[in-house]
Amino acid sequence: MADYSVVLLPGDGTGPEVINQAKKVMDLIGNKTSIGFNYETIECGGKHFLDTGKEWEEGSFERCKNADSMLLGAIGWPGALRENGDLAGGEVVLGLRSGLDLYANVRPVKLFNGVQHKIHGKFKSVWDSKNVDMCILRENTEGLYYGALQRSRARTTGEKFFESPPLDFPGLSGEIAWDPRVISEKGSKRIISKAFEISSKRTGAPSDGKSRVTCVDKSNVARGCQLFRKIFDDIASGNPNIETNYAYIDAFTMWLIRNPEEFDVVVTSNMFGDIATDLGSVLQGGMGMAASGNIGDEHALFEPVHGSSPKYAGKNIVNPIATINSLQMMLEWLGEKHNDSVLTDLGGIVNQAVSEQIQEGKMITYDLGGSSTTSDVGDDLVKRVSNLLD
Ligand code: IPM
Ligand code: MN
Repeated sequence: MADYSVVLLPGDGTGPEVINQAKKVMDLIGNKTSIGFNYETIECGGKHFLDTGKEWEEGSFERCKNADSMLLGAIGWPGALRENGDLAGGEVVLGLRSGLDLYANVRPVKLFNGVQHKIHGKFKSVWDSKNVDMCILRENTEGLYYGALQRSRARTTGEKFFESPPLDFPGLSGEIAWDPRVISEKGSKRIISKAFEISSKRTGAPSDGKSRVTCVDKSNVARGCQLFRKIFDDIASGNPNIETNYAYIDAFTMWLIRNPEEFDVVVTSNMFGDIATDLGSVLQGGMGMAASGNIGDEHALFEPVHGSSPKYAGKNIVNPIATINSLQMMLEWLGEKHNDSVLTDLGGIVNQAVSEQIQEGKMITYDLGGSSTTSDVGDDLVKRVSNLLD
């Protein structure tokens, strides 16, 4: 009997609804297998800040740090800002990314068979599921998020506060706001190395089965990207069995949609990865399908890529699959970290349950062309996982 502690951070809007579905799956696993989850829930987010004056209660960061893993719903609520204009709830999502050094934001872009894409308001199959199976790695601790990450971390951990120094920008006048886009050697090395490591464990790009890492940057313009690409080249030369290529972020957005089959692993800086993975979710059937893991050497926080969807909050209609797939990533990460093959197998079972549910197409939410509720999809998944465990 192995027990793992998990902090649940439901957060804002539809976050609690999707986290509840993941909880049901965790409970089932606890009842039916040798794995148990001790989970604790921490109330947090922008709405929590408006209601209580705090983004989460004192000591929450330490509780997250001491847990085996974390699962987050969503952060962000209309009008929820700190006095300095920062996102209220940033302490949770950005504070954990920075404070626990979760440098790799791993965002698989994988299309399940049977998903209909919503284009011009109609549902149809646009991309073939066998052609969409890549993993986008977004650097998660620096880049254009550097200032916001540092400010959030400082509030969370009480560590040193970072402020961009005032500069005299020639040719500008009036009020000026700026965000330093910091790219470091250390930050680039670890995310790029992770990309090669992940590629070596995958089956290659759908088009030709070749392991390939694509460096996405804007090195024709930005110095940080030039450093990023230089480090990419160094690491590539130490991995001769993995093919490499480059794309500028602007052109990448076109190729991502037009030729997704050519990508295996894509590595990029923070903000480019934020934007590209929302676009990538279209290939998967929308934001309701996009899962992610914020992964460091010691800790990891899993979360759906989508936001809190305030207009759908409390309606029990949003798609919980992105959260279930994030839970699946958590099971696999815990399995690898603790050398626990039961967890790894469970990850495979959850994936199979989702895959069969979608393929069957009867129990799907509105975003995929169905009319099932969030909780019905969750209950149906629990049944499927349960049957697969029998
Ligand atoms: C994401 C989100 C966050 C980000 C927000 C909520 C700060 O959009 O995880 O992609 O910008 O990273
Ligand atoms: Mn985003």
